Amino acid sequence: KKIALAYSGGLDTSIIIPWLKEHYPGSEIVGVCVNVGQDEEWDNMEQKALDSGASKLYIRDVRDEFCDDYLYPLIRSGGIYEGKYYLGTAIARPLQAKHIAEIALAEGAQAVAHGCTGKGNDQVRFELSFKALAPQLKVIAPWRVWDITSREEAIDYAAAHNVPLGNISKKNIYSRDWNIWHMSHEGGDLEDPYNRPQEPMFQLTKSPQNAPDKETEIILQFDKSKPVALNGKKMSFLEILEELNRLGAENGIGRSDVVETRLVGMKSRGVYETPGGTILFAALKELEMITIDPDVLSMKQQMALKYSEVVYSGKWFTSIRKSLDAFMAEACKYVSGEVRLVLYKGNIIVGGRRSPYSLYMADLASFGATSYNHADATGFINLYGLSTGVAAMVHKKMDAE
Ligand code: ARG
Ligand code: SIN
Repeated sequence: KKIALAYSGGLDTSIIIPWLKEHYPGSEIVGVCVNVGQDEEWDNMEQKALDSGASKLYIRDVRDEFCDDYLYPLIRSGGIYEGKYYLGTAIARPLQAKHIAEIALAEGAQAVAHGCTGKGNDQVRFELSFKALAPQLKVIAPWRVWDITSREEAIDYAAAHNVPLGNISKKNIYSRDWNIWHMSHEGGDLEDPYNRPQEPMFQLTKSPQNAPDKETEIILQFDKSKPVALNGKKMSFLEILEELNRLGAENGIGRSDVVETRLVGMKSRGVYETPGGTILFAALKELEMITIDPDVLSMKQQMALKYSEVVYSGKWFTSIRKSLDAFMAEACKYVSGEVRLVLYKGNIIVGGRRSPYSLYMADLASFGATSYNHADATGFINLYGLSTGVAAMVHKKMDAE
């Protein structure tokens, strides 16, 4: 029997290895760690997994795929969950699940295991993706069945089963998730939503107060909503994102403090750092304003809300997500051009935007002499306001009776 385990190198997924071997006697555990841009001790990871009892560890670097096939559609959609969460964990889970399922099938495993709790969103995202891609695989979620309830107990379990602990500390601090798009912080003192996040909690970004008292101007170029160049230099999405992460972090950009509604219904406090992503969302908004016609823009904004919910809920490999993407691709056909932004102490200040497809006609909009005929407005308003006028006349008469 073989079980493919979504392995991160952290405490939870490390102790799952001996736990699985104990509860599924004779089974072989194949670890899969999907590199979506989290900073890990990659060189030591395989040894760590083997020392914990795995028979093998696969490490897959999928950072480019993450940018091109997941983050690109996400930024194109404009979806932000409940208006504040840039979906950094939600968007990575389906891709991680895809690679875990692929390896599980190639290895001839009968089951996949993950270290998500029964309270969270991630279990749903992993498992909906497994259902969509490899429904024949059985899913094992130890957190939903074992009696380990705290970090201390997990550490004791690790010690009793010779799982190397490395620099894992007994202190229960934040629950974190990290990739090239964001870092999330949950738990600890954040569990009181009135507590202000402590400065040392932040791992990626400077606070605006400590950011340089100096503006940084950047120019982002997009092709159909995809970032293709930064400051005139053609780069891959991944390279642009890495550079924007650096610039955003340095300038105190991308912190978001959220009380979100989890899939299982509870409100939960999360603080996120999404430096590069926040800049990309802001830039695209500017470009859309000049390149998308009003009916499409309004529809797109409604569908962005739906998109954010679909991604948050882990419904990536579904018809609704693909259908929304088909709309977004058509809607963003002309979202190409340049946006100039100024980064300064936590702010993203708009410098300007331009596009070969710009719908902005200086001749029409200008307050000076133009080819626009002011007299046309009289007839337009007479007809446009016809129904308003009729209703007012009728109601006024009836209200008087
Ligand atoms: N609350 C966020 C979400 O549902 C972040 C989850 C972070 N996951 C984690 N295993 N630390 O997307
Ligand atoms: C977890 O509970 O496993 C992490 C948080 C989440 O999935 O929402």
